[in-house]
Amino acid sequence: MEFITYEQEGFVGVITINRPKALNALNSQVLDELNEVLDTVDVGKTRAIVLTGAGEKSFVAGADIGEMSTLTKAEGEAFGKKGNDVFRKLETLPVPVIAAVNGFALGGGCEISMSCDIRLCSDNAIFGQPEVGLGITPGFGGTQRLARLVSPGMAKQLIYTARNIKADEAYRIGLVNAVYSATLDEAGNVTATAQENLLAAAKKMAAGIAANAPIAVRNCKKAINDGLQTDIDQAIVIEEKLFGDCFETEDQRAGMGNFLEKDKEKKLKVVPFKNK
Ligand code: CAA
Repeated sequence: MEFITYEQEGFVGVITINRPKALNALNSQVLDELNEVLDTVDVGKTRAIVLTGAGEKSFVAGADIGEMSTLTKAEGEAFGKKGNDVFRKLETLPVPVIAAVNGFALGGGCEISMSCDIRLCSDNAIFGQPEVGLGITPGFGGTQRLARLVSPGMAKQLIYTARNIKADEAYRIGLVNAVYSATLDEAGNVTATAQENLLAAAKKMAAGIAANAPIAVRNCKKAINDGLQTDIDQAIVIEEKLFGDCFETEDQRAGMGNFLEKDKEKKLKVVPFKNK
């Protein structure tokens, strides 16, 4: 693949969008490769994924404006569907995905981060949906996911004004869960960049998720995602089924067995969950 790299670090997969010369803008090839990599993730061996962008400046600066500039109405709709299909695949991947947002997350970049379960960012991150300034609407789910993630009023303000926001404001409105800065020594020298701290934190969080019972984590993701699409009466039925599905698994037996063990050491120790 030319624009996507995938690395497996234990139970954690790291997907990097790697087109730094164009600030990792999403053209058709990047979308195709992303689609392919999502199909090849071994969900038996992978319990959490980190998604990030190559280079120091940008996570993803949006859909490729050059490619979009000559599209007809029908081609525009098809391009929107292409992005939406890939992002929906990412969103419904059985395992949690953490977006590690380093730098620009504009248009399709903000949208892909919103298709992930959790967003963390470095302090140079810039989020925004600048599409109306380009004469289009957000086209890879931005009108839908931003309104669901923050609030309809805030989403409308950001989308109608096309105003970009910095990391601290993204944190304030709940678009990201945490912001990472560089670490300095006493003399003020940088010992770890914001991006290094961000990636380390994202991988640590992913490893923490991976240490929990994988069937339970997956069922939590499905329960939250599916439940949010429906009313509360149906949503709790979704939860009941996924709750029930955890029973009789090795993980449930071991996890509860551990708790019931009289030995305090064992009780607190996380068992090596089996995924069965
Ligand atoms: N599409 C295509 N190429 C892009 C791009 C994009 N979205 N964003 C950046 N690039 C390219 C630039 O054309 C430039 O390429 P060249 O070196 O070949 O000229 C390279 O990346 C570096 O960009 P800049 O020189 O512009 O870098 P900068 O630091 O001056 O500015 C920026 C950075 C503010 C992010 C600016 O590049 C920018 O505004 N990019 C566009 C952001 C945008 O509008 N994104 C939304 C796209 S629409 C969309 O995503 C629709 C949708 O919902 C599906």
